[in-house]
Amino acid sequence: MTAITDTNPEQRVALVTGGARGIGAAITTALARSGAHVAAGYSSNAKAAGELAGKLSAEGASVSVHQGNVGEPADCERVVSEVLDQRGRIDYLVNNAGITVDKTVRKMSVEDWHAVLRINLSGAFYMTKAVLDHMTGNSFGRIVNISSVIGQTGSVGQANYASSKAGLIGFSKSLAQEVARKGVTVNCVAPGYIETEMVAAMPPEVLEKLLTGVPVGRLGQASEIARAVQFLVDDEAGYITGSVISVNGGLDM
Ligand SMILES: NC(=O)c1ccc[n+]([C@@H]2O[C@H](COP(=O)([O-])OP(=O)(O)OC[C@H]3O[C@@H](n4cnc5c(N)ncnc54)[C@H](OP(=O)(O)O)[C@@H]3O)[C@@H](O)[C@H]2O)c1
Repeated sequence: MTAITDTNPEQRVALVTGGARGIGAAITTALARSGAHVAAGYSSNAKAAGELAGKLSAEGASVSVHQGNVGEPADCERVVSEVLDQRGRIDYLVNNAGITVDKTVRKMSVEDWHAVLRINLSGAFYMTKAVLDHMTGNSFGRIVNISSVIGQTGSVGQANYASSKAGLIGFSKSLAQEVARKGVTVNCVAPGYIETEMVAAMPPEVLEKLLTGVPVGRLGQASEIARAVQFLVDDEAGYITGSVISVNGGLDM
């Protein structure tokens, strides 16, 4: 990854939505430790954001935190403006913020549907729209959208979530074509079951059953998702666009 070097004195700046917890925190950590400044977004958990920024800053990494709801276009525009005002540039956008509201379609309300689509899919659109002209103007940008294996396979009780994550793949492939000649790449990382608070809270018997379907035989680590993001944002990853990298232990084979 390009950070601060003799030939490139300008530090890369990453904006990571939901960048203070779970997978997002691992992405923030990996990019910040690689030398980029990371602007980590959060919506409600200011404590987690402050703690992560404090920990990484103590290591000498460069991190700022920015509150905003990705489901609100005005918040997305404000967060992007904050980062541009403070750092002067945004090179990487990682659309990681996401929620679940799991119910079968018969029980799912219109509100349940829209809540998930609004944050997981529209949120990525709002953030991207806020930053895109800046990236194309710089003739450089890396956009990574965190999809899910569920967007590729579907899952009982997750029609809203699966639609949002499949939608991110279609969104990424379309945008990738629109900006391919402007130095901006757009890709997805599709995680399988990752050991975050959400998954760790599952009953052991449910977890055990779930793991029988994972060829690698274990949960993934958030750092393993971060590694794929790191790969995609590299200066030398400019020929990878419109791709979906599965990091799922072989779950969909
Ligand atoms: N864990 C898995 O196994 C797995 C598998 C496949 C895909 N994924 C995807 O990976 C991403 C991260 O998942 P995770 O497991 O790390 O989830 P998580 O621990 O629940 O974290 C979700 C993150 O999204 C942020 N967020 C939620 N609503 C938001 C909003 N309206 N505006 C801005 N930020 C918001 C949260 O910020 P606050 O804390 O401030 O609310 C938090 O940082 C999600 O997109 C998820 O769908 C996860």
